[in-house]
Order: sequence, then C-alpha cells, then structure tokens
Amino acid sequence: MMTGCTLSNLLGIRYTSKEKFLEILHNSTQFVEVNQRAIKKVPSLRGRSIINLFLEPSTRTRVSFELAGKRLSADTINISGSESSTKKGETLLDTVKTIAAMAPDAVVIRSSASGAPEFLAERTDNISIINAGDGLNEHPTQALLDCLSIKERLGKLEGLKVAIVGDVYHSRVARSNVMAHRLLGNEVRLVGPETLVPSKLISADLLRPITTDNPGRLTVHSCLEEGLSGVDVVMVLRMQLERQSNFFVPSLEEYSKEYGISEKVISKYCPDAVVLHPGPINRGVEISSELAYGSRSLIARQVELGVAVRMAVLFTLLAGGHEG
Ligand code: CP
Repeated sequence: MMTGCTLSNLLGIRYTSKEKFLEILHNSTQFVEVNQRAIKKVPSLRGRSIINLFLEPSTRTRVSFELAGKRLSADTINISGSESSTKKGETLLDTVKTIAAMAPDAVVIRSSASGAPEFLAERTDNISIINAGDGLNEHPTQALLDCLSIKERLGKLEGLKVAIVGDVYHSRVARSNVMAHRLLGNEVRLVGPETLVPSKLISADLLRPITTDNPGRLTVHSCLEEGLSGVDVVMVLRMQLERQSNFFVPSLEEYSKEYGISEKVISKYCPDAVVLHPGPINRGVEISSELAYGSRSLIARQVELGVAVRMAVLFTLLAGGHEG
C-alpha cells in the first residue's frame, strides 16, 4: 500500500521532513518489485508529462529519470544543454517559463547553478520542480537512493555511523547525504584534507536540515584512521576535477596515497563497513577497483535502485502517493 504525500517540489533534503523522506523510501520499495517484473511498467502516471532538462552532463541520473517516467507511463521529453535555446543566450528562467507554458506536470532539472531549482520553483506555478543536482548545493535523489541501498544491505537506517570521504567541498552528493543522515539521527564524519573538507562547512551550519531540532552529530577529520574507525558506512566521493579551479591537492597521486580508499584501508579501520560511491568513479584515485567491485561495495546496487527511487519521487509528487 503506497502512502500519501503532499510534496509538490523536491528541491533538497534540507527542506524535507523525516516523515516525507521515509515515505519516499517506503514507496521506492514498491517500485523495486515492479522493476523485477518481465514487463516493468505500471499506469500510475498515464497522461502526465515530464520534462528532463539536463544542462550538465549525466549518465545515471538522466537515464534513470527517463526510465522512471516511462515505467510509470508518463510522457517524457529530454532536453540537454547543447540542444536547448540556452545555447542562444536564453536565460534559465525564460527557458523554464517557456517549458511551463506547454503545461508539463514536472520539470526535472540538473544545472551547474547552485540554487537553480529553488529559484525556478519560486517563479513557476502548477508545475513540480525536481532537483537532479544543482551546482555545489544538493542532489536529493542521490541521497535517497544511497539510503535505500544502505537500508537494503544493513537492514536499518538509524543508529549508524557514516563516514563521507574526499572532495566534500565540491560535492552536492555529500551535502544531501549529510543532511539525510543527520535527519535520521545518524553520526556523520567528513573525512579528507582541510582544502576539500573545510571546517567552516560545519561552523557555518550549512549542513543542517531545517526540519529537525535534533540533527545527528557532524564532525570533520583530516586523519583517515580517526574518521573511519568503527563506522558502518563509508561513502567515497569522486574527485570533482571539473569543478576544481584551484589546486586543492598537491597531486592526484599524493591524494590517492593519503586518502585513497582500498580494501586494505577498510579492513583495517572499519572491517564491517559497506562502501558506496555515487559514480562516476576515478578508478585508482579515490577508490581502488578491487574495492569498487568487491563484495562490500553497493555501487552497482545504487545505480539499480536509482530507477525505483526516481519512480517513487515522481509518483509521490505527481500522484500524491495514491494510485488512480
Ligand atoms: N551520481 C550521479 O549523479 O551520476 P551522473 O552524473 O552520471 O548522473
């Protein structure tokens, strides 16, 4: 039985209540079952239209949102940055207002501009805006699918210690996951060199979900042993070379030597931990191939569950969580 939800936009985990977060995860499990069928299609969003506006490169998120819409029987239209009139100088707001004039039910947007989904949601009516990753800000559906992957493997989502390792500064995945785990009351440790994990991230309280008075503990660690000791979950982040305009590490080789995560590192500091990575991975830089494709890795399952989670998000927002 799917449960109701009154969300109209999904802008970030920062604004999402624990109840809604868990509701989307609950609805996701129903779609995991749909995705195991020979015919992976249900009529839930028949007659609805969804525009996937991807102004930044994406494989996982773009393909899974398109599959999710199609498996729910919605009409999906994909627009990429290079094909849209943004190339001719049209602003993002004018582009979305143009799209909105054609009355779609939802716009799924990925943009390099932090805050773009929120900006558009404030300026459009009768349309659901779904954040598929905005600049350095948030990637809420990634946090949802990461949590679903953890819950499936560990059998629980609360009372956990979670380490997020690497390029936190440039990572919207990290921001959404920090807020998701703090929302759930979990302990979160950010691990990496000061340049990539600045302590001001914590002091400025930028990583605090606004829907709870009791967020889980958040700490910063530049020592790998201190950050990883005894954790249940290790989330390895991609070195976001395309966003690093300055020299944040002396060299990738040196970074890898100091902070690269391998089976040896995990066995030493947190032998029971599962390992996640949002992808795409830089093999041999932030994570070893052996670990990425080993038994404690959830990476392939994260991608698989991404479709079910995005189906649940579309269903929850556009059908209010109710069939028919
Ligand atoms: N994890 C993630 O957002 O991957 P893509 O950039 O391929 O969508």
